[in-house]
Amino acid sequence: MFSVQTYLKRREMLLKQIDKGLLLFLGNEESPMNYKDNFYRFRQDSSFLYYFGHNEPGMAAVLDTETGESILFGYDFGIDDIIWMGPQKTLHEKGKQIGVADTRPIDQLFSFINKAVKQGRRIHYLPPYRDEHRIKLNQFLGKDFNEIKNGASEPFILAVVAQRSVKEPQEIEEIERAHAITREMHLTAMSMAQPGLYERDIAGTIEGIALSKGSGTSFPVILSVRGETLHNNYHGNRLEKGHLMVNDSGAQSLNNYAADITRTIPIGGLFTAKQRAVYEIVLAAQTRAIEAIAPGKRYLDIHLLAAKTIAQGLKDIGLMKGNPDEAVAQGAHALFFPHGLGHMMGLDVHDMENLGEDYVGYDESVQRSRQFGLAYLRLAKSLQPGYVLTVEPGIYFIPALIELWQKEGKFNDFIDYYEVKKYIGFGGIRIEDDVEVTASGYRVIGENIPKTPEEIEQICGQTQES
Ligand code: GLY
Repeated sequence: MFSVQTYLKRREMLLKQIDKGLLLFLGNEESPMNYKDNFYRFRQDSSFLYYFGHNEPGMAAVLDTETGESILFGYDFGIDDIIWMGPQKTLHEKGKQIGVADTRPIDQLFSFINKAVKQGRRIHYLPPYRDEHRIKLNQFLGKDFNEIKNGASEPFILAVVAQRSVKEPQEIEEIERAHAITREMHLTAMSMAQPGLYERDIAGTIEGIALSKGSGTSFPVILSVRGETLHNNYHGNRLEKGHLMVNDSGAQSLNNYAADITRTIPIGGLFTAKQRAVYEIVLAAQTRAIEAIAPGKRYLDIHLLAAKTIAQGLKDIGLMKGNPDEAVAQGAHALFFPHGLGHMMGLDVHDMENLGEDYVGYDESVQRSRQFGLAYLRLAKSLQPGYVLTVEPGIYFIPALIELWQKEGKFNDFIDYYEVKKYIGFGGIRIEDDVEVTASGYRVIGENIPKTPEEIEQICGQTQES
């Protein structure tokens, strides 16, 4: 947890943005896996964590925008709980830790909200992403699930997004801590990436590092020699010499801040000439994109810069043709790079995505494209100092997509399908770092994680005939 002043200041700033009604924060509950008392690892709601700090189930909070008061709802545990859970702080003590004097039993929340509704007060709530929250809101507000979905408070969302987007120095330090754990995960994966192992040997080991040094992974580990599947959580493949393995993984710090890094490793230790040529294109796209980051720049334009670098590079090795700028304008590069360049990162790995992606990554100056590939760009708007974001271009050879586009005769002016088909089975390459937008430009977060082909080959440290 941060200092009491941190939470007081954050709530004070939020209260200045909204002048009518109650702001309702629902903390998360335990999620049963296969019977009620056998839970998944608990993850608190990030906005609750940001304003109220407590990382435990069974809590909620209300801010009264008219009186400025904060109320924390939760449990005072009795002996029946304590024999299972160990000694617990009182709710009053928990309130004190975050500067909230008014604490009440959680079972009073329903009547509290109900009374406010009857008084005609507006209840501002954030978009619910868990069914338990939908059910509670349905009970509290007497609205059906469709109304609940559409009734989240836009002023509340916008105020939270504006505040959480700009990271405080202590939040950057937390992200640095998450990065340090993530670095260890990646270095370990690089040193283990030998033929004969299974993906799960490495995925399990690095998840253990995230659990032993922080509060686990910030998202399920993506680690596969079938890296052309963008979010491949299957870890059952055996590693063979000549495979490329994508490792997209990150830890959460003990205070639940995320890191998110991707490296692509040649199994056996050396890139083949063909792998290296594609790798260099992705690396050039990532380097150019990072170097372009500065306050006031639209991330959409930086995404397009990366896409053009990829289109030019693929033209240079004979897979694309024509004018790269025109290819990108029409979306032809998305055969190889079908996702966005990156996303905001903070308490959530896709920061605040639960509040609505378009509130986080877009604004009135930039609308989400409908073009295949570009439509997946999560962050497009102008950057501000204090934003933390990922930069993660990739090139993938996705057999089903190549077959489909070729059959449809798509972009024959820009894609040499005859040459592209020689890459079926190649897999994919993605390279990702976490970057802070500074007043003068950018700063790549954390200590270097081997990224150039030379650095990676050195750490993988094995010889292989090309
Ligand atoms: N690194 C996983 C993701 O961004 O979705």
